[in-house]
Amino acid sequence: MIFLSDITTLAYGALALIIILTLVNKLTTWEHIVPLNIPWIDRRAEPFSYLRAKWRSFLNMRQNMTTAYYTVNKQQGRAAAIAIAFGRPQIVLPPKYVRWIATQPDTVLSMDPINDEFHYFLRDGLVGDLLLNEALRRKLSQYLPELIAEMSEEIVLAVDKVLGSEEEWRALPLRDTMRTIAARVSNRLFVGTELCRNEDYVRHAVGLGMAVMPQTLVQDLLPRVLKFPLSFATKLFTRISLAGITKHLVPVIRQRIRDIQTIEKDQLPRELLTWLAQRALQRGESPASLEHTLVARIAVVNLAAIETTVKALTTCLEDIAADTSRDYLALMKDEAHSVLSGCYGPGGGGAPPTKADVDKLVHIDRALKESLRLGMVLPGLIRQVTAPNGVTLDDGTHLRCGARISVAAYGIHRDEENWPDATTYNPSRHEGDSLPMSRGTEKYLAFSMGRRACPGRFFVSDEMKLLTAYIITRYEIKVVKPPVTKVGLVQELTMRGPQEQLLVRRIK
Ligand code: HEM
Repeated sequence: MIFLSDITTLAYGALALIIILTLVNKLTTWEHIVPLNIPWIDRRAEPFSYLRAKWRSFLNMRQNMTTAYYTVNKQQGRAAAIAIAFGRPQIVLPPKYVRWIATQPDTVLSMDPINDEFHYFLRDGLVGDLLLNEALRRKLSQYLPELIAEMSEEIVLAVDKVLGSEEEWRALPLRDTMRTIAARVSNRLFVGTELCRNEDYVRHAVGLGMAVMPQTLVQDLLPRVLKFPLSFATKLFTRISLAGITKHLVPVIRQRIRDIQTIEKDQLPRELLTWLAQRALQRGESPASLEHTLVARIAVVNLAAIETTVKALTTCLEDIAADTSRDYLALMKDEAHSVLSGCYGPGGGGAPPTKADVDKLVHIDRALKESLRLGMVLPGLIRQVTAPNGVTLDDGTHLRCGARISVAAYGIHRDEENWPDATTYNPSRHEGDSLPMSRGTEKYLAFSMGRRACPGRFFVSDEMKLLTAYIITRYEIKVVKPPVTKVGLVQELTMRGPQEQLLVRRIK
């Protein structure tokens, strides 16, 4: 009898465990939002198949996107579902939907709920906040031509400091070197001279990007019921980086607020922080939370700007260094010399380049565009269906409110029908189209297209063109790949894996 009751207890225990695990799985995931007629990529017949596919997707993203694009989107003309490590599954739509997605109003498809997942890590009050986007689109783009001189001054100082003046070859870690330069130059226009040159501030601004990714993963894997109670723990590393930038930013924010209240508008610093503070005061944001909300907005812009810029710059330096013919590099150098001759004299003197000068750097633009084309690994146009009744695709597939869609930008950028000899690095291919890197099309989505295309694209393309021009006219460079080693998940997530070495020496 005792034996039988033990077995019964065990059986009930196992049943309860299965029910709990199934519930946890259901609560944790959004797999149920994918319509049943949409095929999944890399989802196998195994227990907890969705969670396991999600886990694998972190390393198999390119492969999964390629399969979704060629096997399902192109061959069958329909959508495919992919489990995503950092969020809800994505329904990857065929490329014919690119323009449709890009033109939908936020009441039908929106990226705000996706952005809010990052906002949530920085400050709860930022959820739903669009003030940063507004300042980037209206103010930064409008004042950009006038800010080129400041941008180029910072480029000279940052590059000279980080790459040095030695005429002997030196080896530097490529990504970390570019992080320091990009963070300093970008922050000159975000928060001004004083902070962009503060090494501790720059270190924390860079650290933020590395802290947020692993935390979104942990948070995403938690069952919804546990997300809020455990959020203090999951946000720990972000809090440390945020505290690091807060201690430097708060005194500057207080100064800017005093300036806005006391001095003439045209005397105010022309930088993102001042525009954000002006607009926040105009909107009557609560003084009690103003400082922290402004810190969080500056944190968001650093998150959006630094790693993306670093990825594009390092890929471009690797690509041009690997181009053994050196033909395109020679064109870029000639162009940079002729455009910048007279600018950046010894010690940083000479007239600074103007916006018209930057616009003449067309070969450099094409080299960067080609690196952005081949370097794009993420899906494009990620949107959440916000229409309360969902949307219906032209093949009759109904996507419910809350479903996430995207397009396989990785496949689109490597499709031979779009780009002949697609996997070869060849900047000259862009000579015919004369579209700058910042301009999105249905075949090129590095900065996306439509209403929600990257609001930093004009700023960052000028920044990267000037930086590249300055580096190739002043330095000889080589890039050495790291030895092939197995990269651990934590290293991969925190972007701390082995990195390329930049060999560099100043040209006499
Ligand atoms: C090479 C560097 C960069 C690349 C490749 C890049 C690319 C992108 C892409 C693909 C999007 C998503 C657009 C969409 O889904 O339609 C985006 C959004 C965004 N980017 Fe960039 N970006 C870069 C640099 C920057 C910089 C420097 C800033 C800030 C100055 C910035 C600020 C933003 C913001 C705030 C968003 C969200 C826009 C929104 O909510 O409407 N990005 N970026």
